[in-house]
Amino acid sequence: MKYVTFGPTGLTVSQFCLGAWHVPGTGAKDRFGIEEVDKEAFAKVVKRAYDLGINFIDGANRYHGRMSTADLDHVGNTERILGQILKGYDRESLVIATKVRGPMAPWPNGQGLSRKHIMWQIRESLRRLEVDYVDLYQIHWEDPVTPKLETLRTLNNLIDRGFVRYIGESNHSAADAVEFMERARALDLEGFVSMQEPYNLLERQKEFETIPVAKKCGMAVMAYVPLAQGVLTGKYLGVTEKGSRATYEPGMAGQYLNTDVSSAVNTLKGIAGEKGCTIAQLALSWMIHKQEQLGITIVPILGITKLSHLEDNVGALDVKLSGDEMARLEEVAATAKMGKQSY
Ligand SMILES: NC(=O)c1ccc[n+]([C@@H]2O[C@H](COP(=O)([O-])OP(=O)(O)OC[C@H]3O[C@@H](n4cnc5c(N)ncnc54)[C@H](OP(=O)(O)O)[C@@H]3O)[C@@H](O)[C@H]2O)c1
Repeated sequence: MKYVTFGPTGLTVSQFCLGAWHVPGTGAKDRFGIEEVDKEAFAKVVKRAYDLGINFIDGANRYHGRMSTADLDHVGNTERILGQILKGYDRESLVIATKVRGPMAPWPNGQGLSRKHIMWQIRESLRRLEVDYVDLYQIHWEDPVTPKLETLRTLNNLIDRGFVRYIGESNHSAADAVEFMERARALDLEGFVSMQEPYNLLERQKEFETIPVAKKCGMAVMAYVPLAQGVLTGKYLGVTEKGSRATYEPGMAGQYLNTDVSSAVNTLKGIAGEKGCTIAQLALSWMIHKQEQLGITIVPILGITKLSHLEDNVGALDVKLSGDEMARLEEVAATAKMGKQSY
């Protein structure tokens, strides 16, 4: 495994983070008709990732494990299962990230970035994860109501009280990210050490929006959907596999499943063939090389539902790309026109 320093911190994290949004499913449905998480298979994924040197895990209070947008009957599920799994590991060998913001209860203050909601949810996340602290506590998306200073002071309080080691943000506009960071600096508060953004070879708009803020402020970028939810593996070029994400997340088709994207991915398949690697490895290697070009830390968050995918993706560390090859990949990917964002 390759390790990187996490943005402006002294924290060392693996080049890949293991995501907990979609994890292995059993195929069986719960009483609400939602597929159940396969706890044993998920535990095997965590174990293999750990054995491969991945020390960084990303979750969120809302995640269920088999739903893109979990409803109130299913929130908290992934954290609870992770808590059971992680009991078997030395806590200090792990860097655990989670998030707060989304709806967790139907009542007023059941969501948001207010002091009341955050103070409630950190306790709940620690209880579900069965840990004393989380390493990275991220605000999942913006809360237009709560004053930024209230959120920032609350998060700093969690650091002071030892519940949280570092704080990060996700899905905020560049202007909001800058405002948070300027307020933190002006008041000598801890600012965000990372931003979590959708970023992959096909979806590069963040390079022109928020990534410049990350660079200016020295934040690490945690790249979510690094394989465009599986599209950048070539798995949707042929017959769609039973149980794959596009079969239960209808929004994916409108975003990625069109002839432009297929044609670009098909060309990437040819390039991968020339390099002797898989399309997934090519796309992840591009991102690892991109962090050097952009001069920032980028940690792709891998969504793993099968052990073989994990082995495949980590192999990206052995794929070397020249500047010309990087440019060629970007040229091919730029021909893929996508629909509305589905996550
Ligand atoms: N901050 C946010 O708002 C936000 C939003 C979304 C995600 N995230 C984070 O980002 C993480 C990753 O997101 P993601 O799961 O969408 O990532 P992704 O890597 O783009 O997609 C993962 C999916 O791609 C397929 N896949 C992965 N490797 C493969 C391989 N080698 N061969 C064939 N198929 C492969 C699998 O699909 P199948 O399951 O269909 O086989 C897998 O579920 C999440 O777990 C979460 O931690 C954060």
